[in-house]
Amino acid sequence: MSEGPAKKEDRRKFQAIKGVRDILPPASALWNRVEQAARDVFESYNFADIRLPIFEDTALFSRSIGLETDIVMKETFTFDDKPPDLPRPNSFTDPEDYTAAIEHALKTDQIPHTAENQIILDGLKYHLSDLRNAIEKSDFEAEETARAKWTASANDLRFGQPLTLRPEATASVCRAYIEHGMHTLPGNVKLYYIGPMFRRERPQKGRYRQFYQIGAEVLGPSDAPAIDAELIEMLVAFFDRAGLAQTHLFVNSIGCKDCRPKYVDLLRAELQKVKDKLGPDSQRRIDTNPLRVLDSKLPEEQPIIEKLPRIADHLCDACKQHFAALKDELALRGIAYEINWRLVRGLDYYTRTTFEVTAAGLGSQNAVCGGGRYDGLVELLGGPPTKGIGFAIGTDRVILALEDAGKGQPKPRVDVFLAWMGAAAYAPAVSLARRLRREGFAVELPPEEMKFKKSLGLADKLGAAFALILGEDEVASGQLTLKRLSDGSQQKLAEPELLAYLKSNLRDTRA
Ligand code: HAM
Repeated sequence: MSEGPAKKEDRRKFQAIKGVRDILPPASALWNRVEQAARDVFESYNFADIRLPIFEDTALFSRSIGLETDIVMKETFTFDDKPPDLPRPNSFTDPEDYTAAIEHALKTDQIPHTAENQIILDGLKYHLSDLRNAIEKSDFEAEETARAKWTASANDLRFGQPLTLRPEATASVCRAYIEHGMHTLPGNVKLYYIGPMFRRERPQKGRYRQFYQIGAEVLGPSDAPAIDAELIEMLVAFFDRAGLAQTHLFVNSIGCKDCRPKYVDLLRAELQKVKDKLGPDSQRRIDTNPLRVLDSKLPEEQPIIEKLPRIADHLCDACKQHFAALKDELALRGIAYEINWRLVRGLDYYTRTTFEVTAAGLGSQNAVCGGGRYDGLVELLGGPPTKGIGFAIGTDRVILALEDAGKGQPKPRVDVFLAWMGAAAYAPAVSLARRLRREGFAVELPPEEMKFKKSLGLADKLGAAFALILGEDEVASGQLTLKRLSDGSQQKLAEPELLAYLKSNLRDTRA
């Protein structure tokens, strides 16, 4: 319900939250063009659109992306689902009744029956028995302590299921693949998605808290290197169709669950030797995730990292063969790439192939796409043994790069401005506008009568290609006056010729 008109002093201007943006016309036309290019290219490779929820169970992301990753540790937007009708305890709450109510709510799933909540309930019962004892002995101090401990525990209960705004969509695709038994579908399942993702990052150019991805995933029984190569070919075809020319593709293999742990141990041991020369982030990562040290951009760490052992020299035979075959497959497709042994990616689920695309004109946030293989992720989430590979393109950055390259100029949107004049022309204008729109033309019909000069002025400001003049004379004669706004030339046409003329003359501007 509206709060009614605000008092003068309460009137504040609302603004979009830091790190999120409005995408306004005409820029939104470029977004649509880029997204349409993805749909066209991906569908030509037999990928189908999947629409996923914006929020999921928090554990889905912590389990797949990894507890120690930046995304899960500090960047997710997490909140509890709506609490049930149980208020938080206050000084009037009876701990006996409240503990019993919690036990009942847990049993009946009114609050999530998680391991954490069960432990908290056990604690509540424990503090409750201390409280009873203290009351029995009239030990006021012990009573106060037990009550405080009970209250603190009760406040730790999670009343609603923890939910997280999706920071990426690969985990959701795997969840949906399992939930809908897609492993029974023939061949590999090829899906794509387009939509917003959420990460609480420090906003800067090319880095937002709500950003957009265009992603594609292949899931199924096979991990043939041709799948990886065809996926990369599709990505290159997309950048080509979207008109983004200056891109650079980096490829790597980060091994599998057999060879990577040995390499990680070796890397950790080597990093320990140079620990004092590393910054605090890298020092911390030696223990939590040594591979991420390779991602470091700190200038003083670069000479140290260059001397570290490289994964390519420590791949098992199967991974070596997979990587060699991938390179052959990329060569077969004429795809230019560079091997970057430090490309480990910031999410835990990757195995073997990883890749990234950078684009010119973006400054430090120059990765426009990241992806890789994630065999085993579906199993980790409770599904059948499944291979997987995919990528996600950062749409915001693609748009920025296109704009930087001067390719952001939107085409005129209004084909015909229908300048009607005189009450008798109004009804014919309404029905003519409808017929033109049905033919696919973008038509602007002024809702109120306008003076001739003002009307043409507005047509010009809106960037219309043509003004169609419809006065009482035109209605009587059936001959319409069509004015080309770029050069002011005009001609009289009957409706059938008008349609034919517009079709052949607007094809270029609307392509
Ligand atoms: P990611 O590397 O985290 O991978 O993100 C992919 C792309 O999303 C990045 O290269 C970047 O263009 C864009 N991006 C990420 N964060 C932001 C941000 N805060 N603001 C603007 N753009 C951003 C993934 O998300 C994986 N799910 C990719 C994948 C799919 N791997 C396998 N399948």
